[in-house]
Amino acid sequence: MRRYHTGSDFRRAKSIAELAAMARRRLPHFAWEYLEGGAEEELTLKRNRQAFADIALLPKTLVPCGDINTRRSIFGRELPLPIAIGPTGYNGMLHRDADIHLARAATERGLPFTLSTVSTSSMEQVVAAVPDANFWLQLYCLKDPLIQQDMLQRASAVGCQTLLLTSDAVLLGNREWDRRNFARPRQLSLRNKFDVLRHPRWLHQALWPQGMPSLANIERYLPPEQRNASGGAHFMGAQMDMSLDWEYLARLRDRWPQRLLLKGVMHPGDAEKAVALGLDGIVVTNHGGRQLDGVPASIDCLPAIAAVAKGKLTLLLDSGIRRGTDILKACALGADAVLLGRATLYGVAVGGQAGAGHALDLLAEELRLALFLLGQPDLAALRAGFSPSCTVS
Ligand SMILES: Cc1cc2nc3c(=O)[nH]c(=O)nc-3n(C[C@H](O)[C@H](O)[C@H](O)COP(=O)(O)O)c2cc1C
Repeated sequence: MRRYHTGSDFRRAKSIAELAAMARRRLPHFAWEYLEGGAEEELTLKRNRQAFADIALLPKTLVPCGDINTRRSIFGRELPLPIAIGPTGYNGMLHRDADIHLARAATERGLPFTLSTVSTSSMEQVVAAVPDANFWLQLYCLKDPLIQQDMLQRASAVGCQTLLLTSDAVLLGNREWDRRNFARPRQLSLRNKFDVLRHPRWLHQALWPQGMPSLANIERYLPPEQRNASGGAHFMGAQMDMSLDWEYLARLRDRWPQRLLLKGVMHPGDAEKAVALGLDGIVVTNHGGRQLDGVPASIDCLPAIAAVAKGKLTLLLDSGIRRGTDILKACALGADAVLLGRATLYGVAVGGQAGAGHALDLLAEELRLALFLLGQPDLAALRAGFSPSCTVS
């Protein structure tokens, strides 16, 4: 990671990378590795960034670009930018009420926010705190059908119209750092306990006064004595349903009349199945390099998926978005919008709502500038060529 000399004031961060450097300093080691780490050798994690770097931009000159248009219509709503905040679990470990901060930052900018099943604020708390949010919910397939049904009912009751079923994390990827940092499940190693004490600012912003945040979204399904961080983690481990398949998704399609998206698609054949099932969208993703190490970068999977699915459902992409130019490249290759994972987490870790907002504003400014310099004022008019390396113009 490049060294920056911006201190700890997130407003001085000029890029997502600088926000990441600040977050690294702010967080204790275990929380930083949780945010940043990938699976095994982190080949896919690195590939996600390299693949964006390998796509060249070919500008046109003498094009007046006074009026830059980054707007996108997603599910009948006009968004000012082709961006939604994606689902990330345990956000409260980075900052108290981080889910609410993220939802507010997104809503202030007219963007959707996705709450994870394993969030540290419940869907009811987020919607009560941010009633005008464009609120999306991510769902895991849980073994207990009554709990699953209850989650759907709660989602409907809070006005959620967009559900993302995550299919690529039924088992967690091999995240060695996670096992290294904990002596027992959810019990930090002695070394990490000392490291936590060296981060008083984080202790104050995340843990004080209530301690480790619990998984508020699913807490109600636990016996009262297990309603804490470790009880929630144990419950989720036991509840993940290994039999998740296309038939389950077809049943979910019947039960959930609002918008349904599948998050975890990399293969064009799976995109075709999603179209055939009548899904409203898919997320092309490798889970930010946290699941199977060695799979391609999401952006490298996009053209083949767009070839079979573009225009038939909404195409979202995530994994490795850190620059406005990454968003531009994703849209040129067929994405309707991108989801942000770590980019806004760095912001919330160092500055709560304002920090997450700063991350969004940096990306928005970079995107506008890139469109201007490319000589292409309208995001919707971007075109991609595929040889020798993919060139966007
Ligand atoms: C800390 C962290 C927690 C995550 N938790 C979830 C989750 O609960 N559910 C889910 O579907 N994806 C989860 N993801 C994956 C993200 O939704 C997204 O696919 C990924 O972060 C995109 O990659 P990026 O962080 O490089 O942008 C998580 C990612 C991170 C970094």
